[in-house]
Amino acid sequence: MNKLMIDNTVGVDIENINRFKNIALNKKFLSKIYTKKELAYCLNKKNPPQHLAVRYCAKEAVIKACNARNIEINEYNQIEILNKKNGVPYINIIKSGIQHKVNINISLSHCKDIAIAFAIISTKIEVKKEHKDKNKKTKNNKNNKPKNK
Ligand SMILES: CC(C)(COP(=O)(O)OP(=O)(O)OC[C@H]1O[C@@H](n2cnc3c(N)ncnc32)[C@H](O)[C@@H]1OP(=O)(O)O)[C@@H](O)C(=O)NCCC(=O)NCCS
Repeated sequence: MNKLMIDNTVGVDIENINRFKNIALNKKFLSKIYTKKELAYCLNKKNPPQHLAVRYCAKEAVIKACNARNIEINEYNQIEILNKKNGVPYINIIKSGIQHKVNINISLSHCKDIAIAFAIISTKIEVKKEHKDKNKKTKNNKNNKPKNK
């Protein structure tokens, strides 16, 4: 029987929130980087730059974790960060085909000046289990090695 193992790759990014103060007013940039749902979430918050910054971090972190497995994502707005009712963030990959293949988890945090995000991609891989007899054979072979004269 084959053995199931978990294969993980991670990504991380950190940003200075100050950079996002002007960006929050640049509509062209906003639509290039963020989806409509993300903008609705961030721009309705008391301090939009920290939510924009942390989502930018999350997108970069996802790209890094994806690069580690040769998964190509070409546009920032193909990676959508949404929140569950309890606030827990999750990823929605808009590029067709990818969402079904990988499971991406993220965690976000921001303080006054800094935003940071981690992303982890986990996939189950099947590893062939070696047959017991095969192991025995290998051991025996070791023992049967001709001794050096
Ligand atoms: C979840 C919680 C710990 C976040 O801590 P915080 O210092 O206020 O905020 P941070 O800057 O570190 O993180 C903010 C991000 O956490 C994420 N977040 C929010 N609620 C979350 C939750 N329940 N679980 C995981 N992540 C959460 C969000 O992505 C948020 O950023 P966003 O609004 O831009 O999406 C805090 O909101 C909290 O205490 N929640 C409810 C009570 C609770 O569960 N307390 C723990 C008792 S032991």
